[in-house]
Amino acid sequence: RPPLRVAVLGCGVVGTEVVRRLVTEGDELAARVGTRLELVGIAVRSLDAERDEVVDRDLLTTDADALVRSADVVVELMGGIEPARSLVLAALGAGACVVTANKALLAQDGPTLYAAADAAGVDLYFEAAVAGAIPIVRPVRESLAGDTVQRLLGIVNGTTNYVLDSMTTEGLDLEQAVKEAQALGYAEADPTADVEGYDAAAKAAILASLAFHTRVALDDVDRTGITALTAADVAWAERTGHVLKLLAVAERARTAEGRDGVLVRVQPTLVPADHPLAGVRQAFNAVFVEAEAAGELMFYGRGAGGAPTSSAVLGDLVSVARHRVLGGKGPVESSHADLPVLDRGEA
Ligand code: NDP
Ligand code: HSE
Repeated sequence: RPPLRVAVLGCGVVGTEVVRRLVTEGDELAARVGTRLELVGIAVRSLDAERDEVVDRDLLTTDADALVRSADVVVELMGGIEPARSLVLAALGAGACVVTANKALLAQDGPTLYAAADAAGVDLYFEAAVAGAIPIVRPVRESLAGDTVQRLLGIVNGTTNYVLDSMTTEGLDLEQAVKEAQALGYAEADPTADVEGYDAAAKAAILASLAFHTRVALDDVDRTGITALTAADVAWAERTGHVLKLLAVAERARTAEGRDGVLVRVQPTLVPADHPLAGVRQAFNAVFVEAEAAGELMFYGRGAGGAPTSSAVLGDLVSVARHRVLGGKGPVESSHADLPVLDRGEA
């Protein structure tokens, strides 16, 4: 089969890890997909910026527009609304599949993008847009599509969880802790999105739209960030047997007039110290789902950072590439001929 041409837009914290794995795990990925994933270009703002040595500088370009039109699969990891939005639409319009981690864009313009993907008959996957490495988008969108979700409750922003955790356990102030989160690659390009709760609100809007089969926009989310919290608040929470967490909550609710609807909010919350969410430390995330038939489900893992997020991006990339190879027939078993099955005594 001919290779699939993959364009990566953005080579920052996440893009670099995705490029690394495309380069170093090419044979493995080819075996899973059924053909090679050929990295044909990496769009960036600056051609001169320092890059990890895994990045082939000959692949760098500032002409993202031309790049997306020459690809079978476009992986959007630049963030922000524009030019990401136009590039994704151009890619879909040209018949390319798209994988994106851009929750801000999806929360603002998801329906336009989903419609464009439907019209073109191509995949638009975005597992990395919510809770980093944790598989949560597909479980909510696909596995729970036959159930009735009642409530979603989660820690979906790694930066604020890291900040609150550092304030609690290391006595850091908010500013110091945000700097650490930035250095570790957890924060958004502008960390205001994290600490003011916009990033969590975008993720809550995406998950709520999928879970409740409706359109929840960013503006529908009642949002409070963590910037007003002080060391004294954190200490008071601890003294009273609680842990302060920035929680996203989306739930079915009924108005006084008896109208059913969905309520979505992001707010600092006092979580009892013995609750499972209280034990979610550093930049980890966790999402509880309560569904009518399934009951309670909990998803937990690394919610931010280059390598964990690359797991979700590569998972999507393998899925959309397999669909492309098989003519849109959906997921199939991956064959792994090189990996032998061991006897119990061998390991
Ligand atoms: P970075 O800021 O580290 O990287 C952004 C990259 O995009 C840079 O390489 C930058 O180029 C490039 N870029 C930005 N604007 C343009 C433009 N106009 N034209 C061409 N290239 C551009 O971001 P992250 O890697 O942290 O995040 C990328 C996306 O992934 C965002 O949507 C973010 O929300 C999402 N995400 C991030 C996670 C994380 O933990 N960091 C986790 C989950 C999702 P240059 O290098 O030249 O500046
Ligand atoms: N800035 C985001 C966070 C990245 O801290 O959770 C992962 O989406």
